[in-house]
Amino acid sequence: NAENGPFFTRRQHPSPVAANVRATLLEDPGFGRVFTDHMATIRWTQDEGWRDAEIRPREPFLIDPAAAVLHYAQEIFEGLKAYRLSDGGVALFRPEQNARRFQASAERLAMPALPEAAFLKSIEELIEADVAWVPGGDGSLYLRPFMFAAEPFLGVRPAAEYWYVVIASPVGAYFKGGKKAVTVWLSDDYTRAAPGGTGAAKCGGNYAASLVAQAEAMKHGCDQVVFLDAAERKYVEELGGMNVFLVYEDGSLQTPPLGGTILPGVTRDAIITLAKAEGRAVREERFSFAQWKADAEAGKIRESFACGTAAVVTPIGEIKAAEGGFVIGNGGGGAVAEALRAKLVGIQRGDVPDTHGWVRRV
Ligand code: COI
Repeated sequence: NAENGPFFTRRQHPSPVAANVRATLLEDPGFGRVFTDHMATIRWTQDEGWRDAEIRPREPFLIDPAAAVLHYAQEIFEGLKAYRLSDGGVALFRPEQNARRFQASAERLAMPALPEAAFLKSIEELIEADVAWVPGGDGSLYLRPFMFAAEPFLGVRPAAEYWYVVIASPVGAYFKGGKKAVTVWLSDDYTRAAPGGTGAAKCGGNYAASLVAQAEAMKHGCDQVVFLDAAERKYVEELGGMNVFLVYEDGSLQTPPLGGTILPGVTRDAIITLAKAEGRAVREERFSFAQWKADAEAGKIRESFACGTAAVVTPIGEIKAAEGGFVIGNGGGGAVAEALRAKLVGIQRGDVPDTHGWVRRV
């Protein structure tokens, strides 16, 4: 499929995991704790550019203790899934969107842009090597492309050497037990991204900075943290690792607009497109926490949900906050989020016609 990508040297080994052990792992993989047998790697050096594309056994690699990533966090990543289709084939969902966002993230972090064809081919070649690890049923193979600064140098400037790597992990639901609705905690003390910062880039640093707020959320019995904007501390931005939507009583949707501080989610974009195709109004307009609460308590907001590659579409049942929280609807999610989720998953698995050209068979 991915024409004109680099040639990948293949160093494959027989799976070190016995078939029956793999079958057991695939039955209930959880999220991000089981890994496949191989990884894709490509190096970049200032002098020679992209080179040495390889599919090789997944194993720890040696990096110099002075590697820039360990000091200044020059690192970006992506997340996308390969799905087992009903006919037994395997498909990706809009992988070119991830390739382009990876380039945009690279630009923001002063890293070299990986050509789209190389990104796509690295993923397809890895899936081919590890196709036995693509789960059936509700599972999927989560692909994690990432790139980090490998040059040993302590000066603060863009590194002259990078590794691009793709690893893969069979996954089930992101939230334990495939929770029907999640509870979120409003972070008073922390924000995620300031104007001019790295909020729109998928860099590890954004997630590192969210951990203390996420830990606070969990201390309050919540599944995720919800962040307000950094400038006014008023408008809802996104959760620790997913975008957020509201569903109003007239069936319309609202989500915070992209604008540099929000991660431009591929799932976010797909939900907007699907909802509009159903005739729903979708407003990409900011809303304050106060509006969320008031409109939910007045019954105008009927549902709220989180979305992302990992989370898919997950209803938000309750918002907890130091200043007082609130419940959305009956706290258990609603029909609109459920229908959008079903349509999205149906397209991804080849059970619903793909009228937008989103599904890429590998
Ligand atoms: C994803 O949804 O793929 C994410 O990257 C969110 C999180 C798991 C980091």
